[in-house]
Amino acid sequence: MQRLAQKLRRAGTRIGLVPTMGYLHAGHLSLAREARRRVGKSGVVVVSIYVNPTQFAPTEDLDKYPRDLQRDLRMCRAEGVDVVFTPSDAEMYPARAKTQGQRGLAARAASGHLRSTGFSTYVVEENLGRVMEGAARPAHFRGVTTVVAKLFNLVLPDVSVFGQKDFQQAAIIQRMALDLNFPVHIIVAPTHREKDGLAMSSRNKYLDAEQRAQAVILFHALRAAQAAVAKKPVPAARLKKDLKEFMTAAPLARLDYVEFFDPATLQPISMVTRGTNMALAVFLGKTRLIDNVRL
Ligand code: PAJ
Repeated sequence: MQRLAQKLRRAGTRIGLVPTMGYLHAGHLSLAREARRRVGKSGVVVVSIYVNPTQFAPTEDLDKYPRDLQRDLRMCRAEGVDVVFTPSDAEMYPARAKTQGQRGLAARAASGHLRSTGFSTYVVEENLGRVMEGAARPAHFRGVTTVVAKLFNLVLPDVSVFGQKDFQQAAIIQRMALDLNFPVHIIVAPTHREKDGLAMSSRNKYLDAEQRAQAVILFHALRAAQAAVAKKPVPAARLKKDLKEFMTAAPLARLDYVEFFDPATLQPISMVTRGTNMALAVFLGKTRLIDNVRL
């Protein structure tokens, strides 16, 4: 992949990257379309498909995360994607070092025997990643920034497209690209939704029929908050209390968090107005869904 990317760059070809974990849906494809718009007909659109183990906690759904590479490839081909990059775990994280192994690594480095195998370097954003998803899933963003940094170095994109669906992730990646001087233009594309408003997500596949019907409560909660602040500002604490009450309409849904925040700093806002950002995470059974909007 890196050799191909270097060759394309030398020829002056623009590269657009859409990083994904596969099990593609129309939301992912809308990002590929945006990448195409950015690099043009003569550019190359790369979709990466890699279920990144370092962004899952041991208790999370890494093993059962849905996978269907043949279907993904058909969808990419139909969308006019030029390259699908599907690295293996062994390529991305050769024999990931455990804490003990790292001690051994230091000893080997000191004795001049540090080999090129193994993996022990991570990229960590230290501010935006502390709230919301970062608070709920402590090691998550470290895995995301690390794998996206690796993908940027492997694919050498001019532009990379991320979804507003994962607003905090997109903000952290923008921060990382700025802080670490990645020569990549980061684009954030709008959230693609089902007809009833549910944000498309690979994890929607986990929902049974009843859960699927009630999952629309995330979208309805965003809409309710939007209506509540349309005319006058409302204190965040009041709005959170009202939303908890509102969510009882979907008895299968359990609110993990709802936050109102400044889009630049991601810090909580106490008085919610039009233009404030809202994000929420909700469990339906074991499935955890997120959504967000600018009110
Ligand atoms: P994944 O969940 O597969 O999402 C890949 C990209 O698609 C992300 O940028 C995400 O925000 C975007 N996306 C997901 N659902 C969307 C929707 N309904 N509308 C628009 N865009 C949507 O996010 C990841 O994978 C991973 O964390 C990754 C960035 C690939 C790093 O491993």
